[in-house]
Amino acid sequence: MIRIENLTKDYGDLTAVENLNLTIKQGDIFGFIGPNGAGKTTTMRILVTLLEPTRGTAFIDGLDVTRHGKKVRRLVGYMPDFMGVYDDLKVFEYLEFFAAAFGIERQKRKSIVDGVLELTDLTSKQSVTVDSLSRGMQQRLGLARVLIHDPKVLILDEPASGLDPRARIEIRELLRELRRMGKTIMISSHILSELEEICDHVGIIEHGQMVFSGRLDEIRPHLGIQSKVRVKVAENRDTAVELLSALPSISKVEIVADYISVTFADGKECNGLIARTLVNADLDVVFLQPEQLKLDDAFLQLTKGIVH
Ligand SMILES: Nc1ncnc2c1ncn2[C@@H]1O[C@H](COP(=O)(O)OP(=O)(O)OP(=O)(O)O)[C@@H](O)[C@H]1O
Ligand SMILES: [Mg+2]
Repeated sequence: MIRIENLTKDYGDLTAVENLNLTIKQGDIFGFIGPNGAGKTTTMRILVTLLEPTRGTAFIDGLDVTRHGKKVRRLVGYMPDFMGVYDDLKVFEYLEFFAAAFGIERQKRKSIVDGVLELTDLTSKQSVTVDSLSRGMQQRLGLARVLIHDPKVLILDEPASGLDPRARIEIRELLRELRRMGKTIMISSHILSELEEICDHVGIIEHGQMVFSGRLDEIRPHLGIQSKVRVKVAENRDTAVELLSALPSISKVEIVADYISVTFADGKECNGLIARTLVNADLDVVFLQPEQLKLDDAFLQLTKGIVH
């Protein structure tokens, strides 16, 4: 649904995006992650035809963004990082204004606006002014706005920034709902762990270059970080340690606190094998859990030391 090919954007001497390649499938939620100045907004603005690339191009649903701007703008909903100021405009007026801008007929506007208000849970706020909404509500209004013309693709620039945990969860639920509706979503953030629970795939960008792109669970092997699991048995811990140490796919077995930490030799987890080995020896397994990859550590590792 989104395909970026050798995309480069120069601002004078500065290369903000350098030879970027990326494919996002229909129905995916793709997390676009990078620190300040990495080139996220620049890439997104090119995708939504607000900026011309210096070299390369991108396609939305097969349409070249540099040649079919008008058609592409019908297909995408873009939520910018800053909303702008709308003095004295009420929430429903704001949405009706955008409905008119998208050329939606006057008699259809009300039902469309009511629909997006309901979806974003803003119905009760429709008559208050936009400027008096809280940050979280403003972000939801931003989402309501991009949904007005029922786009297939949503490009959301940091929709969760500045939100409290509850508002963040609400946005996450809303994004899941939108995915159920069949939308393809590209969403940017500084924080890898913020997107962890909603994204199918992530791309990590640093100084305009993609340093990693793939599934979240592929980051660890990519970084050469070995997978670990924690195992606890009810009794006979020494027997468990002995049995696990003998397995060829396991490189290290250590006792940590009240559990056993198991490191896999080639980064591949074989939890089934551990469970079978212990159960076959009549050991009572209390828990067997993967050690969480500390995403933000992975992010720092991926982006450290790259100097522009
Ligand atoms: N209009 C512009 N003119 C000149 N340089 C620009 C312009 N817009 C962005 N840049 C530069 O391009 C680089 C990438 O900026 P961009 O806004 O795409 O980053 P970002 O990843 O969105 O960062 P942030 O997380 O801070 O939003 C930065 O070095 C920025 O200073
Ligand atoms: Mg930005």
